[in-house]
Amino acid sequence: MNFQLVTQNYDSVPADWLIVGIPAADGFPATVSALDESLGGSISRVREAKDLTGENAETVALLDAANIAAKRVLLLGVGKPDEITRASLHKAVMTAARLVSSKETTTIAIALPDLSRDGCSQADQLETAVAALEIGCMGQGIYHREPKRFAFENVTVVIAPADDETAMQSSIDRGQIFGEAVNLTRDLVNRPAQDINPISFAAVAEGLANQYGLACEIFDEDRLREEKMEALLGVARGSDQPPRMVSLKHNGGAEDAPTLYLCGKGVTFDSGGLSLKPSAGMLDMKMDMAGAATVLGAMIAIARLELPVNVVALMGLTENMVNGSSYKLGDVLTARNGVTIEVHNTDAEGRLVLADVLSYAVDQKADCIIDLATLTGACMVALGNDVVGAFTNDQPWCDTVLAASRDRGELLWQMPMYELYDELIKSDVADIKNVGGKWGGAITAAKFLEQFVGDTKWVHLDIAGPAFSDKNQPHQEGGATGVMVRTLVEVAGRFN
Ligand code: BES
Ligand code: MN
Ligand code: ZN
Repeated sequence: MNFQLVTQNYDSVPADWLIVGIPAADGFPATVSALDESLGGSISRVREAKDLTGENAETVALLDAANIAAKRVLLLGVGKPDEITRASLHKAVMTAARLVSSKETTTIAIALPDLSRDGCSQADQLETAVAALEIGCMGQGIYHREPKRFAFENVTVVIAPADDETAMQSSIDRGQIFGEAVNLTRDLVNRPAQDINPISFAAVAEGLANQYGLACEIFDEDRLREEKMEALLGVARGSDQPPRMVSLKHNGGAEDAPTLYLCGKGVTFDSGGLSLKPSAGMLDMKMDMAGAATVLGAMIAIARLELPVNVVALMGLTENMVNGSSYKLGDVLTARNGVTIEVHNTDAEGRLVLADVLSYAVDQKADCIIDLATLTGACMVALGNDVVGAFTNDQPWCDTVLAASRDRGELLWQMPMYELYDELIKSDVADIKNVGGKWGGAITAAKFLEQFVGDTKWVHLDIAGPAFSDKNQPHQEGGATGVMVRTLVEVAGRFN
């Protein structure tokens, strides 16, 4: 997508679609009134007919725009000026982008009124809008013979003469980097397991690392064995696809500056193993590598933004399948840090993968860790489809992550980690078992992970619900969402 900044009256901007932000307020901004005049009063007439309130994400299409340079106009509600947030604007522009990109267009133009306010500057708003244009133009229909979605070739961003052009241009650049990072994550998650397996995922990561100047290391089975990652290897035993761990490094900070570790669950397909999932529960399990894909997307954005911080991404990659060598119920796996784990359910595989990845991060002297995983259905029971669960052993570190998610408009909610939950994962045979019990499953999974981080500051994000949506909505296509990519980049940007 090519972006171009222009300063001109709305009626003289040529485009297949001109998207115009309309606030939910009395009257129109002067720029919109001028457009209305050129359109012979069309905009005021739809408002008088109560078809245009300016409510957030409302869309009114004027398909035959006479007397102006654009062919069509999309009036896009952006809500009350004092209620605009990154989240609300993201939703509005996503809705517009999805609507417009369902047919082939070459050039669109977007004109947002200056609605800057405390905590959400005009630059933030433009960055958000640009990212939403990128994200809204991409969908999960990767395998349609005839495409059903068409990314815009050119986007003209209309700004006011008073606007700081340099700042606006940098918002566009950042918005594109964010949008493309989210789309990278979504594309990987949307691709089925026949295409994305540990080896092909690692190859994608390596290619991107070379492109964007990240140090990349790929651990094959022998290396994983040397590193004593027997929990991850235990899961991988049931698959014909060999496992991998990918490490990507961005050294943007001083040598003695702290290092942030981002760890991702990358189960490229989760059949459940011998504790086999029923078909309905297995259908979407190509998405079980979303944690790893999120970490990868964020890492690419961190590199492209040249953030002055040290960040390492670790992705634990394996399938969870069934064959004659599958790990079995009752088996005891010894994780990298020596903790022994009795397997009570082979479908609780993500925590086994992360156990070794987390202890590797600790051994590398990580200062702070965030892990991301589509870890439990229980987290979806607790928080629903749209909210990510946060779990921590260090409240200030968790507060940092919560604040970043709030500022980025991604929904995150902290869950308790009381000691009493530790009882639920004790085993009579080994140190711990890999499932808790019927209740509190998202928390017992987090408690399990806690065994592998020692005293290192750590936040676990369970993205099982929000990473993947099973339905199309006006503001969001079904399939992968790329949730938390933006929050992770925000955390990295503030890390020191
Ligand atoms: N990958 C699943 C969790 C999941 C479920 C993600 C639905 C997205 C949608 C995970 O590996 C799993 O199977 N968890 C089990 C744990 C149980 C066996 C303790 C679950 O949640 O049922
Ligand atoms: Mn599972
Ligand atoms: Zn899983």
